[in-house]
Amino acid sequence: MDLGALILAAGEGTRMRSRIPKVLHQLAGKPLLAHVIDTARSVDPHEITIVYGHGGDLVPTRLAAPGLTWVEQAERLGTGHAVMQAMPNLHKVDQVLILYGDVPLISSSTLTGLLSCLKRSDLALLTVDLPDPTGYGRIVRDGMDRILRIVEQKDASPREREISEINTGILAVKRDRLEGWLQRLDNNNAQKEYYLTDIIAMAVADGVNIQAVHPDSEEEVMGVNDRKQLAYLERCYQQQQAEVLMQNGATLADPSRIDIRGDLSTGRDVFLDCNVIIEGRVKLADGVSIGPNVLLRNCTIGEGTEVHANSVLEDAEIGSQCRIGPFARVRPESRLADRVHIGNFVEIKKSRVADGSKINHLSYVGDSDVGERVNIGAGTITCNYDGANKHKTVIGDRAFIGSDTQLIAPVVVGEGATIGAGSTICKDAPSEKLTLSRAKQVSIEGWERPVKKPKA
Ligand code: UD1
Ligand code: CA
Repeated sequence: MDLGALILAAGEGTRMRSRIPKVLHQLAGKPLLAHVIDTARSVDPHEITIVYGHGGDLVPTRLAAPGLTWVEQAERLGTGHAVMQAMPNLHKVDQVLILYGDVPLISSSTLTGLLSCLKRSDLALLTVDLPDPTGYGRIVRDGMDRILRIVEQKDASPREREISEINTGILAVKRDRLEGWLQRLDNNNAQKEYYLTDIIAMAVADGVNIQAVHPDSEEEVMGVNDRKQLAYLERCYQQQQAEVLMQNGATLADPSRIDIRGDLSTGRDVFLDCNVIIEGRVKLADGVSIGPNVLLRNCTIGEGTEVHANSVLEDAEIGSQCRIGPFARVRPESRLADRVHIGNFVEIKKSRVADGSKINHLSYVGDSDVGERVNIGAGTITCNYDGANKHKTVIGDRAFIGSDTQLIAPVVVGEGATIGAGSTICKDAPSEKLTLSRAKQVSIEGWERPVKKPKA
């Protein structure tokens, strides 16, 4: 049987007090709606239809991707009305899974459980018992515990408001049945809206034995209506990520102080200190140790490498047994081989640094190709930019660059060359020789230091 996923995302999100539509707000660096789309994909639907509205084309433009159909709900007349807008797109499927674009943590295992109910029934609801059910639609059952209907908070009697089992809004239903019930919806209720929840009583009247399943955790069905709830779900999500990392053999100094905004894969015995932030795709091999306050964005880091406190590494490939930081910055398109040392206040940009080379203090190395076992002294700068174009610096194996050297690119320093400290190198320096450019040091005889004039 073919499945269609339908995501409702037309709501306004007034309580976010934001210029951008609610479903574009980010959780773990990814829009809320993108989380729901990814989870919908994981249950392998034939198609995914998204009902959008508030914010105009911004949502479909931002999240455009193959396999998604966007349907505009120009007027927001309720959840039932939203589903009606999408029905013409769902004529090819026989099951419909309804999700909310602002309920980001729903899991694919919960959805699989919900969908499997359609083997026995034409309608299955995801419900949950809440200590405080205020605001939600309540599940009304009969004496035999069979579901009878859903009553919205605003339409509920005081007794119905005491019911703690609530409607999460997420449900699975046979398409032909849904179509029939939707045609009979009206907006005769407290909010003058077309309630999708009214189909429950219709299903009961049609003799459907409605199934209810519960999510594995409450967070899965929590919606984001304001920034406080967004922050809460962000923490829940990060806690889950931290647990997965620990299960996979990583040690976290504090599981509540790590932020993963992307995909992190870790080998065995990886150590992550407090306040590490991961963005994009990051791969850490066995024994990697990451110090406190480190930002890693799209990096691969080899076995046993240590990244010390307050370093920022982006779009970089780092070999094994390297030592980076504290306070190092490795910028995009950098490749460090094995056993490379990058020390404090060193910036590496679009450069290759080969095996065993050391750049330990206060240097800028950009657009460079640094050979093996090179030593670059403190304060060395590759002057790669002439104000219009970038130029390359090539440093051969075993070269030794004295401190406070400026290498004016394009320039080549030969293998085994030594550059005297304080040099400005604007011509190629030959292999195995000492090259230096320094004004001769002089001492002035009889010179006296000026003294302050006495006040008159
Ligand atoms: C709805 C349910 C309620 C349930 C609650 C769970 C109905 C009538 N009520 O209530 O039983 O407990 O969700 O959170 O269904 N949306 C549209 N177009 C619309 C209206 C809503 O796309 O015209 C979307 C919203 O963007 C949101 C979802 O539908 O993602 C739910 O809308 P919301 O207004 O939050 O529903 P509630 O009234 O809170
Ligand atoms: Ca809501």
